[in-house]
Amino acid sequence: MADEKKMVGDVYFPAPEVIANAHIKDYEKVHAEALADLPGFWGKIATENFEWYQPWETVLDESNAPFYKWFVGAKVNIIHNALDRHMRTAVRNKAALLFEGEKGDTRVYTYQQLNYEVSKFASVLRSLGVQKGDRVTIYMGRIPELMIAMLACAKIGAMHSVVYGGFSTEALHGRIEDSASKVLVTADGAWLRGSIVPLKQIANEALERAGTIQSVVTVKRTGQEVEMVSGRDHWYHDLMALPIADPKAPTEVMDAEDPLYILYTSGTTGKPKAILHTHGGYMVGTATTLKWVFDIKADDIWWCAADPGWVTGHSYIVYAPLILGATSFMYEGAPTHPYPDRWWSMVAKYGITILYTAPTAIRGLMRFGESWPNRHDLSSLRLLGSVGEPINPEAWKWYHRVIGKEKCPIMDTWWQTETGHFMITPLPCVPLKPGSGTRGFPGVDLDVVDEDGEPVAANEEGFLVIKNPWPGMLRTILGDPDRYVQQYWTRFQEQGWYLPGDSAKKDEDGYIWVIGRIDDVIKVSGYRLGTAEIESALVSHEAVAEAACIGVPDELKGNIIKAYCILRQGFEGSEKLEMALRDHVGHEMGPIAKPATIDFVDSLPKTRSGKIMRRVLKAQALGQELGDLSTLAD
Ligand code: WT7
Repeated sequence: MADEKKMVGDVYFPAPEVIANAHIKDYEKVHAEALADLPGFWGKIATENFEWYQPWETVLDESNAPFYKWFVGAKVNIIHNALDRHMRTAVRNKAALLFEGEKGDTRVYTYQQLNYEVSKFASVLRSLGVQKGDRVTIYMGRIPELMIAMLACAKIGAMHSVVYGGFSTEALHGRIEDSASKVLVTADGAWLRGSIVPLKQIANEALERAGTIQSVVTVKRTGQEVEMVSGRDHWYHDLMALPIADPKAPTEVMDAEDPLYILYTSGTTGKPKAILHTHGGYMVGTATTLKWVFDIKADDIWWCAADPGWVTGHSYIVYAPLILGATSFMYEGAPTHPYPDRWWSMVAKYGITILYTAPTAIRGLMRFGESWPNRHDLSSLRLLGSVGEPINPEAWKWYHRVIGKEKCPIMDTWWQTETGHFMITPLPCVPLKPGSGTRGFPGVDLDVVDEDGEPVAANEEGFLVIKNPWPGMLRTILGDPDRYVQQYWTRFQEQGWYLPGDSAKKDEDGYIWVIGRIDDVIKVSGYRLGTAEIESALVSHEAVAEAACIGVPDELKGNIIKAYCILRQGFEGSEKLEMALRDHVGHEMGPIAKPATIDFVDSLPKTRSGKIMRRVLKAQALGQELGDLSTLAD
């Protein structure tokens, strides 16, 4: 900020001691240097902060864009940097993970202990026939074994494909089938709000529909009876007790560009896409963004309250904190169990210094009033974070005042499954405006443009675009490179820009205000859902002939799902059927995908080529102008 006094709107300037302590003290300078020489910038960071088995020949290869390559020719494994190298230093004896279960059980893993478990499970996976390049699906609650399983896959060069534990039968089945996974790692159940999510039972049902899984490894968490299929299913603790579980398992040497994992996410049309990330660039990008944005220091207790089943957890629970040698906290259950102060009690109990969560969680906890957080000593907190959807200024201010006691800057980080790490974000030294993610992370060149790619005027809405590559970027969609090009790089092909699929505004100070998705993606409580997947869950019910879904704004959840169904002959719309359909979607996709309301209709607005015009449904639902209807069939 050249001249801070000229900044427009509600501005929160960082305290001098926050800047004095921060890793990066001058955003403008670092950003300008990075833009001037992007390979030089990332090459220097990669040399100084990470260990490589063999150095690269080229930092950034753009010859086959948009199939960009980073650190070409280098040999590395992200696990070498997240675990192996710490065994040689005092970090070995430090807590990597503090865990608390919903029922109050606690565990601590030092780096040494975590490495021991990961190595053992890596050799278990190898003995089940998992090889470099294979896929392993992981379907679990928020427990340390989830992290151990992911790290074990990375160690042996297998790609993990984590399916969020809140998803259900068909969502799991579709992702197993698409990835052709050999092994499924799951748990008997997960604790949530005092009850059991029956993960193994759901997995069994999903596996009745899918054929590629040869072995299932089940962690005992909730302890109820579950059905085990002999020859296919094993208990985690049984396998880990065998001599094959070798704590000295070697780490696979990988090319920097070898796949690390896939993670399914919803896009414009059709089935979820397998976003692919790699070992080298992702390692450099995630760790550097976490270090600079959340200013991680040796004595911090970092709590990313997301689920490891989403990219936030992949990057900022599992990989980046370990690479930095940080101490993380993980909590299994619901924020309000048994009382609405559960989170705040744990902040005090563990002395959490940095809390990173989603606006929907903040709004949810805000509802219960200030007395719940005020009962606890939250003075250990020094930084706060937000992610997943735009944060409304009221929630921002509550978070800042009630939780952060007006001394904790809030890092509102915009990024995506595809980007791998933060893209639009403040650093602690950057002045904040509630509701804006501020500017690009150093080296990220972005803009807000119109249909033709021309920058729009200040405070006008347009397409958010990213103009240059970054190390943690997705490399492709596994099995569908054409879709990768089509989805992200075709809209502004001439300019070579990446299209995230969000609309945004840029204000007079160059601050970005993300508005929301411009495609058929609905963000419910920060969870990214595709209309296509919900609609196909609806039509898989015998009563439904056709379905369409839209997102409508909701104060608590950001958006809720509104569905429209055309029924098959012989079925009639009723409250009972509405309930049955909601349950059916819950069973197939998961509770988060349940429509809030279902309207039974005789027809749906469609284009002449038969595409449902969800835009028209949405305008109608919100009582807005219907806009251009020239393509409507009738
Ligand atoms: C979409 C990506 C990034 C990890 C979690 C979500 C929305 C994300 C913000 C933010 C406004 C945000 C965008 C984006 N989004 N963070 N700070 N402000 N919107 O990853 O599930 O891939 O979703 O989430 O719409 O495109 P994801």
